[in-house]
Amino acid sequence: MRKVEVKTGRSYDILIEHNILDKAGEYIRPLTKAIRAVIVSDSNVAPIYSNRVKASLEKNGFETSLFVFEAGEASKRLSTIEKMYTHFYEHDLTRTDIVVALGGGVTGDMAGFAAASYLRGIDFVQIPTSLLAQVDSSVGGKTGVDLPGGKNLVGAFWQPRLVLIDPETLNTLPDVFFTDGLGEVVKYGCIRSRSLFEKLERENARDIIDEVIYECVSIKRDVVQNDERDTGERAILNFGHTFGHALEKLNNYTVLTHGEAVAAGAAILTRISENKGLTEKGTSQCLEALLKKYSLPTDSGFSLAEITAATRGDKKSTGKSINFILLKNIGECYIYKLKIEDFGEFFGI
Ligand code: NAD
Ligand code: GLY
Repeated sequence: MRKVEVKTGRSYDILIEHNILDKAGEYIRPLTKAIRAVIVSDSNVAPIYSNRVKASLEKNGFETSLFVFEAGEASKRLSTIEKMYTHFYEHDLTRTDIVVALGGGVTGDMAGFAAASYLRGIDFVQIPTSLLAQVDSSVGGKTGVDLPGGKNLVGAFWQPRLVLIDPETLNTLPDVFFTDGLGEVVKYGCIRSRSLFEKLERENARDIIDEVIYECVSIKRDVVQNDERDTGERAILNFGHTFGHALEKLNNYTVLTHGEAVAAGAAILTRISENKGLTEKGTSQCLEALLKKYSLPTDSGFSLAEITAATRGDKKSTGKSINFILLKNIGECYIYKLKIEDFGEFFGI
């Protein structure tokens, strides 16, 4: 078992262990006086894994119930949260009880937000089952839902009490979502770890997935500990995301998965920053080669003018400028604040 300790306002452990699903109750029990546990999961994950988590919770004295929603980003909205609150209410969930998020990032973000707001905040545990959720969304306490106007516009910072990662669950994750998660994995190598990047070059990520997950969550832990509320350094986790979000928007959230959009966004931006002398020579070539190795895109069918126009409404914008995350080289990055009025000159459009 590998363990990563997260020292935030509310501290917690991330445990990585094969078949840890069967020990969920054992690990959660000492952390809580909860009598009831609501497992929140989606319509793909619940039929495969919820029974094992339920059995382990019940073996450790929890009364359990299961809330299942239709899988997919389209469910990540307030109407699903309202149904979740109703389930909590009907199952007599009290302030000392617990919510267990079993699934991908959509499940974790929604269960976390419901836990953050129900009765003004109850404990929750993350059991992430997609690669993206295991390396990224289950750690750091960002929870929330989408609005018709944009993704993740409503939410709360609410740290989990525990994160349990079972790499075995990735065996049932469709390949498209595994590749999607690899987009974020490559991101971690780019921004903070040349050694992770080189490992991904040398090996096949799937063969060393425990190590990969451990290194990614360790990087995310370090960043989140320094900037829990996302007012500074945490922005580096958005490498590739500003253009990535623009590409997702330009594709009407179809065609490219999030990880693919981030990969293409990272590659496009790094080509530009290298050409402008803001990134060391050769960085872009290394990045593109690694993305191609993992079947991730390095370009999009859109012009720079279209992409930059679509970034203007980005949530990461601060008034009249946007914080781009640029690579210094592989493993090091920095925040580059660019005024929107300077876009034309900077991007040559
Ligand atoms: P998801 O939860 O929709 O999961 C992707 C798909 O894989 C779904 O169809 C799901 O049912 C299925 N699935 C998950 N685990 C499975 C398994 N083990 N076996 C079979 N099927 C499985 O999406 P995601 O890609 O995990 O996460 C994306 C979400 O995460 C987005 O809403 C994004 O905004 C959010 N996110 C949040 C943070 C954060 O810090 N909170 C960070 C990054 C992304
Ligand atoms: N995924 C970005 C963050 O957690 O800040």
